[in-house]
Amino acid sequence: MEQALKARIQAWSTSPNPLLRALSRAFRSLGYVRRFILNSRIRSEQLTRLFHCASHYQGATYSEPDRYPELFTACASHLKNTPDPIILSFGCATGEEAFSLAEYLPNATIIGVDINSWCLRQCIQKNCSPCIQFLHNSSPNYATLANLDAIFCMAVFQRSENRNHTAAVAHGNFTFARFEQQIASLDAKLKPGGLFFIDHSDFRFEDTAVAAHYTPLDFEGNQFLHQRPLFGRNNALVTTQYTMHRAFQKHSA
Ligand SMILES: C[S@@+](CC[C@H](N)C(=O)[O-])C[C@H]1O[C@@H](n2cnc3c(N)ncnc32)[C@H](O)[C@@H]1O
Repeated sequence: MEQALKARIQAWSTSPNPLLRALSRAFRSLGYVRRFILNSRIRSEQLTRLFHCASHYQGATYSEPDRYPELFTACASHLKNTPDPIILSFGCATGEEAFSLAEYLPNATIIGVDINSWCLRQCIQKNCSPCIQFLHNSSPNYATLANLDAIFCMAVFQRSENRNHTAAVAHGNFTFARFEQQIASLDAKLKPGGLFFIDHSDFRFEDTAVAAHYTPLDFEGNQFLHQRPLFGRNNALVTTQYTMHRAFQKHSA
């Protein structure tokens, strides 16, 4: 029934009758308001975009447990001789990445950082481990975080709007310059020899200036075929199909 109504509202949106087009717009707005009121996750995504527009990258907060098993395994294998590694999950959403990393590296401290306060509340409620912490990206504790052994930036440096294959230029205020600036600030937190994991991004890590100080990690599954828009240093669309490394090691000093 609901599907049939949705299909009808969709059909009205392209109707030659202006009254039906107006009705379609009105129903869509009502649906948006309903979701905003009833769904706290959607509300948090919209409010975060509103209040942190300039520094908000991916608005969607979807995550899942053990989402990147090859990358978590590679991280655990490279850090197996590091006594008490500290790992950052930047854009941790509702914490699944941080909790998964803690299972792969039981001796590590995991720090999840996000810009969405609702997400951080979910993380804190779920967390029972003293080895996992969650911080807001504007908190003083995050600002002073340094000397990290690994950083994960998964599905954070992207805008859903850029999934539209017809977009010739990266959307709005999330530009390559912003991306490069953010990568540089994360690089400053990573110790020499540390590991940098990045994927599902609108831009290429290897196009940034700091990438000159990194080498791709050598493991099966590091190169991955992507079928999504990729934007260049000038924010213009480069391609919609490419292979790219996802894990890098920072050169030792
Ligand atoms: C799609 S989720 C990714 C979750 C997890 N990393 C994964 O791959 O499953 C993207 C997350 O990035 C967060 N995010 C967006 N902009 C951010 C920023 N400037 N600083 C920290 N987190 C940010 C969003 O709030 C959201 O929770």
